[in-house]
Amino acid sequence: MTVPLPAHLTEYLTNEFNSTPAEWRFCLRSPGRVNIIGEHIDYTGGLVMPAAINFAIYFLARTIEAPEWRLHAVDLNEQITLPLPLGGRTGTLWADYLAGIGVQYQDQGQFLPGLEIVFGGDLPRGSGMSSSAALEGGMAFLLNELLNTKLSRPALAALCKRSSNTYLGIPSGIMDQFASLNGSTAGPIILNCQTLSSEPVKNALDGYGFLLVNSMVSHNLSDGAYGQRVAECQQALEVIQSEFPRVTHLSATLPDQLQSVSERLDDTVRKRATYVVEENRRVGRAVMALEAGSSTEMGNLLNATHAGLRDLYEVSCAEVDFLQSFAQDYSGVAGARIMGGGFGGCTINLIRNDRVQDFTRDVKEAYDERFGITAECYPVVLSGGTDFI
Ligand code: GLA
Repeated sequence: MTVPLPAHLTEYLTNEFNSTPAEWRFCLRSPGRVNIIGEHIDYTGGLVMPAAINFAIYFLARTIEAPEWRLHAVDLNEQITLPLPLGGRTGTLWADYLAGIGVQYQDQGQFLPGLEIVFGGDLPRGSGMSSSAALEGGMAFLLNELLNTKLSRPALAALCKRSSNTYLGIPSGIMDQFASLNGSTAGPIILNCQTLSSEPVKNALDGYGFLLVNSMVSHNLSDGAYGQRVAECQQALEVIQSEFPRVTHLSATLPDQLQSVSERLDDTVRKRATYVVEENRRVGRAVMALEAGSSTEMGNLLNATHAGLRDLYEVSCAEVDFLQSFAQDYSGVAGARIMGGGFGGCTINLIRNDRVQDFTRDVKEAYDERFGITAECYPVVLSGGTDFI
């Protein structure tokens, strides 16, 4: 085992089964992700720049004779047993993320084996670091091995997305699962969400790193509001295509094309489409800024993305706006923005390494004073994608 298992999982094995990790046939690690830039772009077919990180969910699994899945969510101290073959929704969200993956394999004609799975880790839930994608990706990776289906990592990400979209009814894009499964320590990846081609980007920023600040809020609005954004982007695309039939996805729209249909879009839809077209172009510029090591340009792009997400896409909230503007004004922070689906979660900050300590202290103090909430800060450390350990 190359990466040590979190102690609480090892303890669970001892207490619950009187066993050790070595006695489990499979042990795998499925990481969370950050997204440097390219937010709310994946489902419009554009470019995104995510990375897998050091926080992860770990799975221990073994096959059992009984035709059922015994699932142990150690962090939540919850257990569920699902009979095989798997059916509809389980009534428990975390179990749905795992069962949904099994259902995708079943739908391809596979017979699922009986399994006992113990999982947990150190990935904060509800913070926009994609613990749900880590769950899905880990399960998909495990079944790929067990069933010998030999799906590539991008194909596994597509399977996970299908599960989210069809089994869970969440109209999300592919970025989170793709990043978790395909992460690289060589740098964040640039992913074309239309073609699923990806490659690591060289990060030449010297003396700077990325830092997450967790607002510790997660407004429930997010589910409906996310679907609404997806639908609004689709509406914009239909109007654009009626004039420019060769535009296959919203991110491919040129600013002039958007301008020329602008009067036919209602105000909200126009704002959403403007954000998407601008953000997709920012991602291209961010690749160059990162490779050239320009912290100023990269920081400006992050700030511009935040402004777009706040004013045009309208997915921010008071707590996160506060954290972002505090960071933007702080000496040594090149730029900051809300990260992930929105309405809470983390900001991602590009910060000089020698300012991390002071900033962490000051932002926590200011946030606590304003909202009475203790924020958490995590330096971003990249990791490889989902794998056996
Ligand atoms: C959530 C979704 C992703 C993506 C982001 C926004 O994390 O799961 O597919 O759309 O929001 O960039």
